[in-house]
Amino acid sequence: MIEVQNYDEMSQKAAGYIIDKVCQYPNIKLGLATGGTPIGTYKNLIADHQKNRTSYRKVTTFNLDEYIGLSGNDKNSYRYFMNEQLFNHIDIDKNNTYVPLGDSKDAEKECLRYEELIEKKGGIDLQILGIGSNGHIGFNEPGTSFYAATQVIQLAPSTREANARFFKHVEDVPTKAITMGISTIMKSKEILLLVSGESKKDAMNKLFNEEISENFPASILKNHPCVTIIADKAAVSGLK
Ligand code: F6R
Repeated sequence: MIEVQNYDEMSQKAAGYIIDKVCQYPNIKLGLATGGTPIGTYKNLIADHQKNRTSYRKVTTFNLDEYIGLSGNDKNSYRYFMNEQLFNHIDIDKNNTYVPLGDSKDAEKECLRYEELIEKKGGIDLQILGIGSNGHIGFNEPGTSFYAATQVIQLAPSTREANARFFKHVEDVPTKAITMGISTIMKSKEILLLVSGESKKDAMNKLFNEEISENFPASILKNHPCVTIIADKAAVSGLK
């Protein structure tokens, strides 16, 4: 684990980590997350792209999840978020950026298509993850099977409340999402988990001190051979 002072330092370190990989492997396939945690990392990637011309022309990306019912043009969709926060500002080919289609007619079919797509492209080399305060990764809420592939899930009330800050009203937060499954995430060759802030203190504690259990989805990461955690002081402040 890399411990840093604060959110800004976490974002710089994470961006540096990703940039090194992109320079080393220009064809890298990145798994990306949304939410508040990676926004600073994406800002640093953009600044570096502008300053040092790091190129994403050959990079492919797969996002972890998308709300069901929202099209990519919806300001609250994760496709929109990714375009705004990263893709519009770097030289990536948008045809090589994949986010599950939240407005597909058949969400179950979309899950199968997305899972197969990741496989067909050769799998994810480096997956960026955040963590929910209830231990979710992607939108795999507590109780989700560790064996699940990309799937439709019902969002936990706590997750909808946490994400309400991006919407006008909590009722506007969709109730369902498509998410890469835990098994999809575990197949990535490498994982970079970013954790910042006091609200993640308990989750960090559980991650380090509790047994692997489907009640705390992130605990499965202990079985992955190559995980790097970048966490700030506030997030680790409760570690016993
Ligand atoms: C986002 C995602 C979620 C978030 C988690 C933390 O694509 O899959 O697992 O990483 O909810 O969210 P923030 O970063 O907003 O605290």
